[in-house]
Amino acid sequence: MKKVVITGAGGQLGKELVQILKDDHYMVHPFTKQQLDITDRKKIDEMLEQTNPDFLINTAAFTQVDTCEKDIDNAYLINGIAPYYLACAAKAKKVKFIHISTDYVFAGNKTEPYLEDDDTDPKTIYGKSKLLGEEFSQVAYEETTIIRTSWLYGHEGKNFVNTIKRLADSPKEIHVVDDQFGSPTYTKDLGIAIKQLLSKPPGIYHVTNSGSCSWFEFAREIVECLQSEAIVSPISTDRYGLATPRPKYSVLSHKKLNSNGIYMRNWQKGLQEFLAKEDDNSGN
Ligand SMILES: NC(=O)c1ccc[n+]([C@@H]2O[C@H](COP(=O)([O-])OP(=O)(O)OC[C@H]3O[C@@H](n4cnc5c(N)ncnc54)[C@H](OP(=O)(O)O)[C@@H]3O)[C@@H](O)[C@H]2O)c1
Repeated sequence: MKKVVITGAGGQLGKELVQILKDDHYMVHPFTKQQLDITDRKKIDEMLEQTNPDFLINTAAFTQVDTCEKDIDNAYLINGIAPYYLACAAKAKKVKFIHISTDYVFAGNKTEPYLEDDDTDPKTIYGKSKLLGEEFSQVAYEETTIIRTSWLYGHEGKNFVNTIKRLADSPKEIHVVDDQFGSPTYTKDLGIAIKQLLSKPPGIYHVTNSGSCSWFEFAREIVECLQSEAIVSPISTDRYGLATPRPKYSVLSHKKLNSNGIYMRNWQKGLQEFLAKEDDNSGN
């Protein structure tokens, strides 16, 4: 039985991944932030010594984009330096290292999907710190796999789908930006692809649900699926007034993923399954 350590196991992707791998008979050692702070190098080394896994998957991160702008030291420490510690520890133990990254490493001014080897040019502290994490872990350990994803939502956690679901309960108008484009990604679909990538060569992979939309189109689809009466109206990013800039276009090409025989279903199908499961869980 293959053994997997998952850090950040209390997060939305971490929780989903623990379940997916357990269901597939992996022996999973999940570590939440309380159980393992990834900025604590000594504890990482001790943990790998004790668990002796085949794979180390890091889903832990400082993910609040606006807060990263104010808490720069912690953004670089958690998203940049801690992945280096994990990669060094994985290399010392000859453990395959998988690290999760983001579409925010790109500037967002392309008009066609970003390839894995396109130039990076992050515009936010979050994006810059995540890029450092990619680079440090690859420098530390050539066997590192980097998985960039985008617009993630899962059953537990703060995310766009859960926010729109809550807002859709009231008849108020919901204003959503219609000039930022990306690919919504269900944690379950990402988790299944991560599992498949465990047996693939190291390197950078882009993993999102297929297809793309604006945040406005995404919100409209959520409201339609919920058969809610709520009205979703488009608004420009300028008028909406976000504190931190977001990439205008961050659709990620699946070229490398597909060339390794892995294909992703489209975002609408992922969303439908997510909402149906939420409905089941709420007992409706
Ligand atoms: N969410 C998105 O839309 C999105 C998009 C692209 C890429 N990603 C990437 O996907 C990965 C998973 O994201 P997610 O949405 O699952 O994030 P999440 O729900 O915020 O989970 C991240 C987890 O990491 C934990 N954490 C923070 N600092 C830590 C530390 N020093 N040591 C150990 N754990 C720590 C957090 O704990 P606390 O909450 O207690 O701080 C949280 O449980 C991350 O690498 C993220 O950058 C996410």
